[in-house]
Amino acid sequence: MKKVQDHYFHKARREGFAARSVYKLEEIDRRHKLLAPRQLVLDLGCAPGSWLAYAARRVAPKGRVVGVDLHRVDAPLPSNARVVAGDAFCLPPATLLDGGPAFDVILSDMALGTTGIKSADAERSAELVLRTLALAAALLRPGGSLLAKVYQGARLAELRGAFRRSFATVSVEKPKASRAESVEVFLLGRQFGP
Ligand SMILES: C[S@@+](CC[C@H](N)C(=O)[O-])C[C@H]1O[C@@H](n2cnc3c(N)ncnc32)[C@H](O)[C@@H]1O
Repeated sequence: MKKVQDHYFHKARREGFAARSVYKLEEIDRRHKLLAPRQLVLDLGCAPGSWLAYAARRVAPKGRVVGVDLHRVDAPLPSNARVVAGDAFCLPPATLLDGGPAFDVILSDMALGTTGIKSADAERSAELVLRTLALAAALLRPGGSLLAKVYQGARLAELRGAFRRSFATVSVEKPKASRAESVEVFLLGRQFGP
């Protein structure tokens, strides 16, 4: 993945976050009041750990964050966070919930390696988001929220429609820290339920 050494990169270094992408989550959180103390949060695709650290701070002291990734998280973990290694779609839901109730918020910054072919990357991203939505349906509490990264492409309207069938409100977010030339946007669904 290309490392962009811009204002957000240096800010993340200064503030002790593992990646500049933390400021995408921060902006969406500030705008929508997504995270709050006491919540139970699932962070899908959590490595190298910047969303995990930010979310853990926002839900502390009583809330907890569970991160999942194919890769190890080397950054020091906050005391109210734990990481499960593996493929988010292959782990039994009970492993993630650890006996707890359903999650209040599910975050997904999951991304597959890009091929450079925009239409193919958007297609793979769309499939990933649909799988994430299905996983969220099994793990979110009624009224909960899902934030998922998606590469814009032909299927964005379809994905938005799929979110609308599961959430009372749906928005497409493009935070400032997401580079203007990047095709990524974030779908935010609030108030999960039939
Ligand atoms: C852009 S990075 C996430 C950055 C993270 N939000 C942060 O701020 O530190 C995307 C991550 O998604 C992970 N990933 C992709 N597919 C996955 C899957 N099926 N299960 C678990 N992790 C996955 C990748 O290993 C990668 O570490």
